[in-house]
Amino acid sequence: MGQLDGKVAVITGGASGIGAGTVRRFVAEGARVLIADLDEGGGRALADELGENVAFLATDVSKEEQVAAMVAEATDLWGRLDCLFNNAGFGGALGPIAKTTVEDYDLTMDVLLKSVFLGIKHASPVMAEQGSGSIISTASVAGLRAGNAPHLYSVAKCAVIHLTRTVALELGEQNIRVNAICPGFIATPLAAGHPEADESRIQKMRDGSARAQVMGRVGEAADIANMALFLASDDSAWVTGQEFVVDGGFAAGPAWSRWPEFARSERPIRHHRPPDR
Ligand code: NAI
Repeated sequence: MGQLDGKVAVITGGASGIGAGTVRRFVAEGARVLIADLDEGGGRALADELGENVAFLATDVSKEEQVAAMVAEATDLWGRLDCLFNNAGFGGALGPIAKTTVEDYDLTMDVLLKSVFLGIKHASPVMAEQGSGSIISTASVAGLRAGNAPHLYSVAKCAVIHLTRTVALELGEQNIRVNAICPGFIATPLAAGHPEADESRIQKMRDGSARAQVMGRVGEAADIANMALFLASDDSAWVTGQEFVVDGGFAAGPAWSRWPEFARSERPIRHHRPPDR
């Protein structure tokens, strides 16, 4: 028996990376999944590969009418909506704040934050009517601590975490749970620096970044899919309003080998002793 038997999920950004890994996992656990993504080629190919329990809808998650159509497509196809995974994203505006244009600001916030608001806005009435639902959004460790990603990316992800908390308090009475996942460094095209990065470029990134990681490897899409599965399943029935860090220890601090020499030293303790009386 699968952990998601009978459930229907929409996964945005499901054509690639974390989203695609989660589509595979959810389907293996018995869910029917609608992939909503800008990438028609990748999204349709994955849906065709996985068969009749997966559909694809070309969707720009920053556009309200397309997000409304995405929710309607899932309910038209399968009659319900148990889980929305707001996961689509990109790196957004790069560089110094003084050189960031208002157009780049708007695009970054639309794709990374407005999309999450729109997803919750349109999915929650369906879930309220059926009396249950789980909304999950992909934030980032960059939303917890500054300095790990571009300015606006960090700000948008921080806002996704707080939106998760505030909305969870409203929707809890309707048995709708709202949680966020904060991934660390995950081997995907986004982390490799290009939306169309191929496997060899991603592998280079894995090899180059592994040593700096606490657990000696970067994360994989499956690591995040495992947390999404828990949050989508009934095992998390009393879990809401939280952000779950899945980062191989990154947010806790640097790997032991990068600590200052004195902190790793095995010398005996030195401290002032009171004079003998
Ligand atoms: P990815 O580039 O492999 O996948 C992102 C997907 O989102 C792509 O399929 C893309 O077509 C889709 N997308 C982008 N803009 C869209 C839009 N406006 N409408 C619909 N679909 C759109 O990247 P990855 O790494 O799987 O990213 C997934 C999420 O994880 C993002 O929200 C990202 O910010 C977040 N994240 C990723 C981390 C990493 O190290 N890879 C770390 C922390 C968070």
